[in-house]
Amino acid sequence: MDKVEVPSGDQALRVDGLRVAFGDFVAIPNLSFLVNFGEVHGVIGPNGAGKTTLLDAITGKTRPAEGRILLNRTTDLLALDEPERALAGVGRKFQKPSVFEALSVRENLELALRLRPRSILGELRNWSDPRRKARADEVLDEIGLAARAETPAGALAHGQKQWLEIGMLLMQRPKLLMLDEPVAGMTATETAHTAELIRRLRAPERAILVIEHDMDFVEEIADRVTVLHGGDPIFEGRMADARADARVREVYLGR
Ligand SMILES: Nc1ncnc2c1ncn2[C@@H]1O[C@H](COP(=O)(O)OP(=O)(O)OP(=O)(O)O)[C@@H](O)[C@H]1O
Ligand SMILES: [Mg+2]
Repeated sequence: MDKVEVPSGDQALRVDGLRVAFGDFVAIPNLSFLVNFGEVHGVIGPNGAGKTTLLDAITGKTRPAEGRILLNRTTDLLALDEPERALAGVGRKFQKPSVFEALSVRENLELALRLRPRSILGELRNWSDPRRKARADEVLDEIGLAARAETPAGALAHGQKQWLEIGMLLMQRPKLLMLDEPVAGMTATETAHTAELIRRLRAPERAILVIEHDMDFVEEIADRVTVLHGGDPIFEGRMADARADARVREVYLGR
């Protein structure tokens, strides 16, 4: 496997010896990899490579048979249930947007701020707390929807709904933001805007993990990629080098 220098931030996510099986079928035999703070890390691979299974193991939707998953060096994610992992800083966006269509963009954002005592903004118990509004204002700017703040989410274009949903995850200030096929179904213009948004979301206190089939998009946004095949990492490095890698080409052409 090719090795490149890991982008400089500290470890945000460390996966060690992960094994995931469904009955007799082993989807991920033995996977280890790192995502650093400040990094956009792409995970690519053909259908059935184990990409979604990896995210499921990280969020707690699927329980691995073996391995260790650490967030921010110290948080043992496998010891936590799904909601606890979200509160610990794991944010995941699914492909299909699930915004509240009847509520405004701003209301969707404000609702997304969890009110549990253990959350980072857990002191915000009160719906009308001005800090809740202030956080929504910051996120509206980050996702480029400030001008649509009072628009019902149902009136947004498909791409804008996806950005709103990313914004709903940002409200919690996730340490690890995971996006599963963020540009599926988007127009070329929306895809370009999404690439720009993801580049802008790179931050020293955040790591971003993106699963995507569109390789041009991945090349544009990702600092590094991991290529999975049969649950095994067959390449790690820059997307431009992945395209030229003999093993990667074989896996994609051999489909
Ligand atoms: N709940 C399950 N039960 C049995 N097998 C499963 C289950 N979930 C996934 N698999 C199998 O595990 C393998 C990996 O699936 P996964 O969905 O992670 O692939 P993927 O890389 O996300 O593919 P795609 O690009 O099609 O989304 C596949 O062979 C799939 O059929
Ligand atoms: Mg998948």
